[in-house]
Amino acid sequence: MTSSTLPNPSSRSCLAVVLAAGEGTRMKSDKPKVLHEIANRSMVGHVLAAVMAAGATQVAVVVGPDRDDVAKEARKIVPDAEIFVQKDRLGTGHAVLSARDALARQPDDIIIVYADTPLVSIETLAQLRAPLAKGAAVVSLGFEARDPTGYGRLLLSGDQLLDIREHKDASEAERAITLCNGGLMALRGDAALAILDKIDNKNAKNEYYLTDAVAIARSLGHGAVAVTVAEEEVHGVNDRAQLAQAERMIQGRLRQVAMISGVTLVAPETVFFSYDTKLGRDVIVEPHVVFGPGVVVEDHAIIHSFSHLEGAHISGNAGIGPFARLRPGASVGPKAKVGNFVEIKNTQLGAGAKVGHLTYLGDASVGTDVNIGAGTITCNYDGFGKYRTEIGEGAFIGSNSSLVAPVQIGKGAFVGSGSVITESVPEDALSLGRGRQVIKENWARIFRVKSQAAKLK
Ligand code: UD1
Ligand code: CA
Repeated sequence: MTSSTLPNPSSRSCLAVVLAAGEGTRMKSDKPKVLHEIANRSMVGHVLAAVMAAGATQVAVVVGPDRDDVAKEARKIVPDAEIFVQKDRLGTGHAVLSARDALARQPDDIIIVYADTPLVSIETLAQLRAPLAKGAAVVSLGFEARDPTGYGRLLLSGDQLLDIREHKDASEAERAITLCNGGLMALRGDAALAILDKIDNKNAKNEYYLTDAVAIARSLGHGAVAVTVAEEEVHGVNDRAQLAQAERMIQGRLRQVAMISGVTLVAPETVFFSYDTKLGRDVIVEPHVVFGPGVVVEDHAIIHSFSHLEGAHISGNAGIGPFARLRPGASVGPKAKVGNFVEIKNTQLGAGAKVGHLTYLGDASVGTDVNIGAGTITCNYDGFGKYRTEIGEGAFIGSNSSLVAPVQIGKGAFVGSGSVITESVPEDALSLGRGRQVIKENWARIFRVKSQAAKLK
């Protein structure tokens, strides 16, 4: 289906019901499964972002008892999401009905998604909704399973979906079917509650199966259809191995998007992005670079190998690394250079500034064309407070200097190598804050002769 045949998502109201009441015991974790992250965003966060992008106008999140943490995370992404608590885990149909108040408002479309199935794309959600506009009451998401064991099987007649049979309830013949239920479902809002209320728990697991919605819809004279997507789209996460698989898949997508949009990735499989990494045109990323959340890199910048960036803004034509660490609040100006073993935090670096080697800049502002020598440290912390260092444009900081904040280095000033600067330096001045050099002629020769003689005694 091409996007031109999809209904305009904004013309129909759409409730997304996000099932996030998973037990997640196989994660062996102190935190709920759906708060585990891929590409630095929680799984429930990915799913919520996808439903919003697919045109959801209301969001209901079904959480387990005492799961304020999940509710809080959901509200971070969708502030007006309604939270419903499913007190007992009686099955997927029961979970959806926990959001009864939202269902009862009869939105045009209802989409049901699982918070532990984080790779579902916006296109897939749009495909799932599309048949509702053409009159179908239930749409299921099918996929050809490599191994269908455990999944519900789609029972089709032509393009009509007749029923979904859960693995445990299926006959041998039904188990031979490889077209499986991905779990996600779309329901027409005006028909949904009447269908869902008819679901019972007379089956092998004594659960209220959402999947029974298909046969019930048919018995009420409604149409039900399936749309088929790639298995990757419905990859569910139950344990840490599946979490790592999800990470691998999402990184694959992010790398692809970056390259398609004009970024050179020399060895894409070694570069790790966050869900929100933004990269301009003709950016080059060398092998083994990690992007934490909140990084923007503008056009023509180069990120050399083994650099780690988080919460940083890199302007055009800047160069970072190799072996650089940019922490939150680092802002690197156009054509500035940050070299090896340099850490920068909460610091603005002006255009053309150079910080080549072995330096820590924290809570600083550095003017244009400043040169920071190797081994420079801003001493920004005294164990209690953080203090700022301000360096004016064109200043030159000699190697191995400590700038004890709060301190200001004026425009065009020089700081001699090895200085400990505790007082502000005026514009265009030279400041030396180090021991004076002493020369003792012939001292070393006399020392050697004396010492050798003493040893021979
Ligand atoms: C479900 C489908 C199956 C499909 C499979 C795809 C049903 C009956 N079966 O089976 O056809 O092939 O997904 O992965 O729907 N949940 C709750 N509350 C509950 C039960 C489940 O919130 O009471 C949530 C879970 O956290 C999970 C999702 O619903 O996110 C699916 O539940 P799960 O028990 O894993 O369903 P499956 O047996 O895998
Ligand atoms: Ca499951």
